[in-house]
Amino acid sequence: MSSRLIDLRSDTVTKPTPEMRKAMYEAEVGDDVFAEDPTIRALEEEVASLLGKEAALYVPSGTMANQIAINVQTKSGDEIFCEAGAHIFNYESGAPAFLSHVQLHPIEGIRGVFTREQVEERLRPDNDHFPPGGMIEIENTHNRSGGNIWQLSEVRRLFELSREQNMAMHLDGARLWNAAAASGTPEKDWAQYADSVSVCFSKGLGAPVGSAITGSKEFIVEAHRARKRFGGGMRQAGIIAAGALYAVKNHRKRLVDDHHRAKTLAEGLVEIDGFSVDLDHLSSNIIILDIAERGLEAARFAETVSGEGILVTFAGRSKVRFVTHLGLDDKDIQDTITILRRLYG
Ligand SMILES: Cc1ncc(COP(=O)(O)O)c(C=O)c1O
Repeated sequence: MSSRLIDLRSDTVTKPTPEMRKAMYEAEVGDDVFAEDPTIRALEEEVASLLGKEAALYVPSGTMANQIAINVQTKSGDEIFCEAGAHIFNYESGAPAFLSHVQLHPIEGIRGVFTREQVEERLRPDNDHFPPGGMIEIENTHNRSGGNIWQLSEVRRLFELSREQNMAMHLDGARLWNAAAASGTPEKDWAQYADSVSVCFSKGLGAPVGSAITGSKEFIVEAHRARKRFGGGMRQAGIIAAGALYAVKNHRKRLVDDHHRAKTLAEGLVEIDGFSVDLDHLSSNIIILDIAERGLEAARFAETVSGEGILVTFAGRSKVRFVTHLGLDDKDIQDTITILRRLYG
């Protein structure tokens, strides 16, 4: 058993750095429900500008950001086209139905990506029998598929379809920072093809709390109301927003380090007999390791390696998920490879 835990479960497990804590300690605060918190204002302005949107709103979580986007831009009874592995479909506790009375229409994509044609095939006639199409939702990077990044051209095609069909377009950009760092395509180039974009500060960027939802000024006025309704109005939250602001300013560029480490780890893993990773499509900080060929179960694997101080999660019966992040260095990656070789090599 190694003395130190190597936590590869998620990029949400990071702890604030000393510099981030200093920024939080020194943060100026006010009552944000009255829009009087200067640190939150600064964060919202920074994020809106990075994404090329008119306005942004700080919210407690990525889930709330997505659910506000849905609530404000759809009507009860609408349907939302999304990918079958989408976070809003799998991991938000049924919130679209619960909070906004909409149904999701999942589309089987390839590595989290679907096409304009796939949505067109599913569009329904304008007839009493069918739910109206209210939104197209995409996720970039796509968590469940292993942090896959979209092609900008396909996002544009879906956006054009949303204009033609009078549907909203929402981008779940919890890891848009990773997509931008890995692809070299800036955040605002992706964001131009969506009415609303959610981003998270508590994932790759390493801040302790919060997300933002961005869009037009009119949209953010409504988003403000929805945030209040959902219980997300916070008061002197500049304390936590300061950590997010520090992270946005200082941690976006370093995301490529996480991506390199994910590649090094994946290359080490595939050297073990019967372990496979789709190396050709490993583009950001999430690795999905397939151990089916070895007849191993992911849950058992996670338990075994945790005994050696390595924490992972699973993404299917024989699929193990490793995520690199701010809290890991090169030695952690090398130690992980060494331990796994000893156990399974
Ligand atoms: C793609 C994606 N969207 C949204 C979320 C939700 O974020 P939160 O956990 O802050 O609600 C996550 C969380 O991991 C995510 O991976």
